[in-house]
Amino acid sequence: MAVPTNMRTGAVLGGRRRWTKWIQWIIIVVVLGEMVFLLHLDQLNGEYFNFKSFAALNFSLDNDVEHRAEVIHKDDSVNRSNNESCEEWLEKNDFLGYGRNFSKSPIHVAFGENQVWDSCAVGCKFRSTVSESFRPDGVLRAASGLPSWMEKESCHILRSMESSSYYPENDLTSARKRGYDVVMTTSLESEVPVGYFSWAEYDLMSPVSRKTEGAYAAAFISNCGAHNFRLEALEGLKAQGVRIDSYGQCLRTREGRGVNKLQTLRRYKFSLAFENSNEDDYVTEKFWQSLVAGSVPVVVGAPNIDNFSPAPNALLHIKSLNDIPAVARQIKYLASNFTAYNETLRWKYYGPTDGFKALVDMAAVHSSCRLCIHIATKIRSREEKQLAATLKKPRPCKCTDKFGVITYHLFVRERGRFQLHSVFLKSTNLTTSGLKNAVFTKFKSLNHVPIWWDERPAVIRGDGTLKIHTLYPVGLNQRKALYTPHFHTDVEVSNYVEANPCPYLEVIFV
Ligand SMILES: *[C@@H]1O[C@H](CO)[C@@H](O)[C@H](O)[C@H]1NC(C)=O
Ligand SMILES: *[C@@H]1O[C@H](CO)[C@@H](O)[C@H](O)[C@H]1NC(C)=O
Ligand SMILES: *[C@@H]1O[C@H](CO)[C@@H](O)[C@H](O)[C@H]1NC(C)=O
Ligand SMILES: *[C@@H]1O[C@H](CO)[C@@H](O)[C@H](O)[C@H]1NC(C)=O
Ligand SMILES: *[C@@H]1O[C@H](CO)[C@@H](O)[C@H](O)[C@H]1NC(C)=O
Ligand SMILES: *[C@@H]1O[C@H](CO)[C@@H](O)[C@H](O)[C@H]1NC(C)=O
Ligand SMILES: *[C@@H]1O[C@H](CO)[C@@H](O)[C@H](O)[C@H]1NC(C)=O
Repeated sequence: MAVPTNMRTGAVLGGRRRWTKWIQWIIIVVVLGEMVFLLHLDQLNGEYFNFKSFAALNFSLDNDVEHRAEVIHKDDSVNRSNNESCEEWLEKNDFLGYGRNFSKSPIHVAFGENQVWDSCAVGCKFRSTVSESFRPDGVLRAASGLPSWMEKESCHILRSMESSSYYPENDLTSARKRGYDVVMTTSLESEVPVGYFSWAEYDLMSPVSRKTEGAYAAAFISNCGAHNFRLEALEGLKAQGVRIDSYGQCLRTREGRGVNKLQTLRRYKFSLAFENSNEDDYVTEKFWQSLVAGSVPVVVGAPNIDNFSPAPNALLHIKSLNDIPAVARQIKYLASNFTAYNETLRWKYYGPTDGFKALVDMAAVHSSCRLCIHIATKIRSREEKQLAATLKKPRPCKCTDKFGVITYHLFVRERGRFQLHSVFLKSTNLTTSGLKNAVFTKFKSLNHVPIWWDERPAVIRGDGTLKIHTLYPVGLNQRKALYTPHFHTDVEVSNYVEANPCPYLEVIFV
């Protein structure tokens, strides 16, 4: 069994120490060893560590921040030897050492399809059953009825791609109330979002075809009793003179059997991407296929559909039936003015916005792997708290040099990866651009290749120059990460770095 490297037991044993020192160290080694042993065997006992269940661990971002603030005290960097840089000193003193090696002891998820996620940043194994040799870190499906050791040790995961208007149990608040620790739904607010989109599944940059159909739009709608107004919208557009070919079960005007949906959509200027419910982030293949086909989506569905648009003005949105006349007018205008219509497809020729790339890139890492990373991050965070408490030696997290310049120690990883990298920020450079510059310089020095590199279509991959889209604290949900600005002002940067010793950040490159 490995004793954390920061114990540096060799150095201790080599010197001439008083026996009291020895005893101190032996106690620490024994306590740590025992902890590592317990972690290793996945036999974490609730009372030993004084928590009731995984849920009670509560690794919300705020808790972590609070905790780190607690363990930091005065600046010890005066002890630094003269020839040691602040960076070297911090690298050594901020390291906590860890118990579980996720390559050797992968994250185990039970009650999923048997699968080993080889390319994942942490070891990640799914099994349909549990056994003594497969004690799960997480269990998919309903939490009740599990053996008590599993109830206690595993986190409970809800995974579903259905909208909560059909399956109310998928609603985030309701799922959390029922004791789920990790929710995986289409909601970008869920811990591990599962979307209908990915570069692999949809050839989004596929070229635009000639629009040869007489009708303006095609519709493929087959569930006629949707929980929204989509059928009324279809009839409303028709009543306003928008010519629509309807291939689905509902209000059919053309034979839909045996028709290749994608090839059909390519021939139409517009595609009615009407979802069966209007819920934030619930955006299904109807929308993504329209984008692939280069058929401008007319959307009834997610109120925040603009977040999913490949470019401004690349879609039409019917928010309510009141919008029908205006949208019908717009469709007719665009259908009659090719120049204007072609502008709505500009992104197909020049590429989508960075925001769109950042969204779709999320799916470059499979949701099962993202789940394992999420769980591993929680476990690591728990280990750090325990080690920090055991060592009684806080991480300094900052260091002052002889000129009074403070170096702050930050930890940054790319979204979709697990490993954090040290980034050092000087008090003289505690600004938005200073932060971005420090992160950029670090990843450049590592010759970092963005995680989406092999997934994204080559035409929109760029030339390999790293570009930071956004930076945010680890643990933030993707809705906030992608659509709420972070570290946008210098004051925000300096306040954050001052208030959050050794902050853990995530970066999205585009
Ligand atoms: C967990 O976090 C919630 C808010 O996110 C808080 O209300 C609750 O008291 C926390 N529980 C524990 C055990 O810290
Ligand atoms: C720094 O030195 C002081 C006094 O010499 C000592 O009490 C303290 O533990 C030292 N801190 C570190 C981090 O070595
Ligand atoms: C730093 O100084 C110490 C003696 O004070 C010396 O033993 C050590 O080799 C020096 N390290 C470097 C990197 O120069
Ligand atoms: C973790 O385990 C892997 C595989 O056994 C090994 O190659 C690696 O060195 C280990 N890492 C650490 C930090 O011990
Ligand atoms: C057609 O669209 C283009 C581009 O938006 C615009 O400049 C032009 O005036 C439009 N033509 C007509 C006849 O509306
Ligand atoms: C549509 O616009 C793109 C550039 O935005 C242009 O390259 C393409 O030739 C245009 N299509 C047609 C048929 O004119
Ligand atoms: C501070 O940041 C600027 C650019 O943001 C950079 O050119 C400079 O090298 C940085 N200075 C230090 C000391 O890191």
